[in-house]
Amino acid sequence: MDDVSCKDGAYCAAPLCLLYVNAVGQLKPIAIQLSQKPGNDNPIFLPTDHRIDWIAAKMYYVSSHYQFHQLSSHFLTCHAAMEAYAMGLMRNIPDAHPVYKLLRPHTRYTMAINNKARESLIGPNGAINATFSLDLQGQKDVFCRAGKKYSVNWSNIKRDVKARGVQDSSLLPFYHYRDDGIKIWDALTTYVNSIIDLSYHDDKSVKEDKELQSFAHDIHNNGFPAYDGSYLNGHDFPPSISTKAEIVEICTLIMFTGSAQHAAVNFGQYTYYSFVPNAPLTLHHPPPAEKGKLTFKQLMDALPNEEGTQNMITVTSLLSKYSSDEIFVGTYPAELVVEKEAKAAAENLRKTLEKITVEIEERNKALEVPYIYLLPKKIPNSITI
Ligand SMILES: [Fe+2]
Repeated sequence: MDDVSCKDGAYCAAPLCLLYVNAVGQLKPIAIQLSQKPGNDNPIFLPTDHRIDWIAAKMYYVSSHYQFHQLSSHFLTCHAAMEAYAMGLMRNIPDAHPVYKLLRPHTRYTMAINNKARESLIGPNGAINATFSLDLQGQKDVFCRAGKKYSVNWSNIKRDVKARGVQDSSLLPFYHYRDDGIKIWDALTTYVNSIIDLSYHDDKSVKEDKELQSFAHDIHNNGFPAYDGSYLNGHDFPPSISTKAEIVEICTLIMFTGSAQHAAVNFGQYTYYSFVPNAPLTLHHPPPAEKGKLTFKQLMDALPNEEGTQNMITVTSLLSKYSSDEIFVGTYPAELVVEKEAKAAAENLRKTLEKITVEIEERNKALEVPYIYLLPKKIPNSITI
């Protein structure tokens, strides 16, 4: 977010936030700096500062975070990645192929919703542009900066929590995305394993599957273009697939990205962003550069006006809605699950997901704010919004 361009009269911070796990396991912000370069005009705000300063520091932090979330965590990591997978699937894998049967339900409506997003959500006349502090160039810059670092493993939850050092539940309890997401990842892996075992005798038969190899080659080479027309090299999608274990991981990754990962970053938007002071998408006052100077009136004046507030509520409400004909994770059309063993594997997945639902609901009873976004019964199979 550093030095990105904003609309006239709108401002963005490029913040850093230090978080701390307190004695009862809660993750709390304990220091916020609102731009990247240390200096006298860039104080480190603390919870012990004046109330207005600390509220402002959190507000500017979350405002930038949400704009990044929408462009990177939501659109790039889920919508754009699933478009690459859907295109690779359609171009290379025939309907009768086991990988097609596994992945097709997880790409339902993805191309259509992305097309709609390009028409009415992102771009000059889109709702995103109407609500963000970032102008169009700023939005492109943030998207491209994230794209240059992007790895498909950002939605491989087991690799991701290790890479970010947040895998240990004894050090970081109450990280429900990690705990619920890994259960769903494991359930999907077991299902994919059963289907792949039915279809491939050994790794040699994987290497000799020309359709599968062209699928991987196409996504690796053409699936992740950079904004400047070149292609991203570090995205970690392999150029070929050599083993059964690799197919299982790749299919699980794609199924998880289109279902759980998208649900986790999409359906909480209304809850967290519809009360505008909690996460204003536009701020009309520069981030405070000194402690003790910002007044309550300036802070209130920085918030979006009535029209901006309405836009935020409308956009986040719309983006958090389910499709009228939603199909939820673990539900597969009969024509794609034909063999007796495949039907048994699908039934086993449904039972495991039901068990996970019960466990999450039981856990949620003790939470002040229940974490509901990875309840399997609330996770669509594919991106439909
Ligand atoms: Fe979405």
